[in-house]
Amino acid sequence: MGIEINKIAVLGSGAMGSGIAQVCAQAGFDVAMRDIEDRFLEKGFEMIRDSLQRFARKGKIEEGDVEKILGKIKRTTDLKEAVGNADVVIEAVPEIMDLKLKVFKEVDEIAPKDAILASNTSFMSITEMAKTTGREEKVVGMHFFNPAAIMKLVEVIKAEKTSEDVMKAITDLVEKVGKVPVRVEKDTPGFIVNRVSAPSAALAGAILDKKVAEPEEVDARLMELGQPMGVYILMDYVGLDIYVDGQEYCEKTLSPDYKPAKVIKDLVDKKELGMKAGKGIYDWSAGRPQVDPSKATDKVEPTDFIAVQINEAVKILEEGVADNTEDVNTAMKFGMSMPLGPFELVDMVDDLKGTLENLAQKYEKKIFEPVTPIKEGKLEEFLAKYR
Ligand code: 3HC
Repeated sequence: MGIEINKIAVLGSGAMGSGIAQVCAQAGFDVAMRDIEDRFLEKGFEMIRDSLQRFARKGKIEEGDVEKILGKIKRTTDLKEAVGNADVVIEAVPEIMDLKLKVFKEVDEIAPKDAILASNTSFMSITEMAKTTGREEKVVGMHFFNPAAIMKLVEVIKAEKTSEDVMKAITDLVEKVGKVPVRVEKDTPGFIVNRVSAPSAALAGAILDKKVAEPEEVDARLMELGQPMGVYILMDYVGLDIYVDGQEYCEKTLSPDYKPAKVIKDLVDKKELGMKAGKGIYDWSAGRPQVDPSKATDKVEPTDFIAVQINEAVKILEEGVADNTEDVNTAMKFGMSMPLGPFELVDMVDDLKGTLENLAQKYEKKIFEPVTPIKEGKLEEFLAKYR
């Protein structure tokens, strides 16, 4: 018999924690949402109410369900009360490794011995978190995307010792909460989606630092091609602090080329963090910024973003992070609202090798240099092995 899951504890009530709690409660699970102060819990709870009311207005749930779903979420500042009888604990605390290690160690001591401990980290090593516990085989990554209430993807990440039973239980749980699970076979920085997106985020930063184009000019061009949000609006939407944390983690673990762009780092230092601060790359004080379509520029080729993503996607196949092209395409489509996945976009880039070589030179970043199968003109043969 498989592992039975009824009670879920979510640690952290920020954008991700509250979204995850909502998704689990909507699927009928009893949820305990824990944060360190009541005011954070209240803010998270109000975000959930707002999201549920939006669903009710759109007829996606019944009006009467809003309070019913909210009633399934117990708020607490007491860690023991939150995890004491949980079957699964999902950690969504700030992206500070020392904090995560402390949380995992504490939770391991007080959660039931059979409970699965999952992390919603965007980039960090699940294996490192697992090692602070006495139950490495029961520690797993469960990575949701923002806004969690809407985005369909959840990456299920296998750490060094995660058991197959736990991978299966979490994959089933993801399906039960109405999401699409994609297995990540190897615990590496950024997993699939954030890893494939990392060089395009670095490119977005470099465009600003080198003053190649203005954010609105690039976003207008990208939105013209059907992306729901341009790259800079999305950075603001997710939070510039999250962007900088992610790039810094990649800088430390993957390549110094990921050093966060100075323009963005300066905004974070000024606490202009994007949507949640009312100001970031854009002004959000009157709601979501309206990008002026007439600003669309040809100073930046949209296919440059695609090229660096295809290149990185090949790297994760080579490294065994994903074991097939379909999973990578699915992850990017459901995690980043891309109409097509990177391996479905190969034909859109005229000269993939030349484009990557130019970008590497222009922005002085080795991370953009073409990987061997692209350099040797053998991408199709390479990909055929993973189809
Ligand atoms: N709860 C409930 N409903 C919501 C909602 C929420 N939190 N957010 C948006 N909606 C609803 C709106 O009410 C609207 O409903 P309707 O279609 O029935 O009218 C619908 O979603 C569309 O919203 P909007 O009209 O405001 O705007 P968009 O059409 O642009 O959709 C979006 C919003 C779904 C967020 C879309 O812009 C999108 O997909 N953006 C990209 C998001 C993305 O890429 N996220 C990943 C970020 S990376 C990440 O999370 C990794 C992590 O590790 C950092």
